[in-house]
Amino acid sequence: MAKIGIIGGSGLASLHALDIERREMVHTPYGEPSGPYSIGTFDGLEVIFQPRHGAGHTIPPHALNYRANIWGLRELGAEKIIGMAAVGGITANMCPGSISVPDQIIDYTHSRKHTYFDDDRTPVTHIDFTEPYCEALRQSLLKAGENTGIQLIEKATYAATQGPRLETAAEINRLENDGCDIVGMTGMPEAALASELGLCYACCAVTVNWAAGRSDGPIRMEQIEENLSIGMSNARKVLAALEF
Ligand code: HPA
Repeated sequence: MAKIGIIGGSGLASLHALDIERREMVHTPYGEPSGPYSIGTFDGLEVIFQPRHGAGHTIPPHALNYRANIWGLRELGAEKIIGMAAVGGITANMCPGSISVPDQIIDYTHSRKHTYFDDDRTPVTHIDFTEPYCEALRQSLLKAGENTGIQLIEKATYAATQGPRLETAAEINRLENDGCDIVGMTGMPEAALASELGLCYACCAVTVNWAAGRSDGPIRMEQIEENLSIGMSNARKVLAALEF
């Protein structure tokens, strides 16, 4: 059975039904990952779980060691990775509580260690990134959604921003003009690094707020928290229904 790596984002620091067999730290050539990985079974799947921001949710998006996190998952045998993400909704169908499976991404991040090919250890390599997400894994997520009766939005363009601050209303207008539907802070370089290692990667994005300027007034943290807990509990059901 293929082992699947699940990276839990905000609101998903653990998988309740994960039957943990062991926890393991991995030391990588790129430094330390966010913390130990939990390895076990989740509704019949062999899963390696990692809370992206660390067990106490202390590492902000721009300071994550994305290279170590993805490297560690591969080291432990993950062939497929699902990155769970809390995002802001930009376009009208991406309302809070909705869950989407993005098919495209635009990278607005900067100053992050974003590649494994940045020294003289390997020949210069340019991966093809036309389709940034693994289509087979995207389809598995969509099928799992169908099986649970939780409606997933089939396509979305994910804008990856630097954070940790949220965006201005003008920035969100620009992202919409660029064709983005949702906005989050961790989608890149995670997706590209998985691709560089030849791993199949997809994202399951839970919308937790209207992006800046898309609702009246400022974005309120209490509202985000509320949508997070409902959205992530649905996302957990989708993960539990995955079949390969
Ligand atoms: N912007 C960026 N990242 C986010 C947002 C947002 O509005 N909501 C959750 N993550």
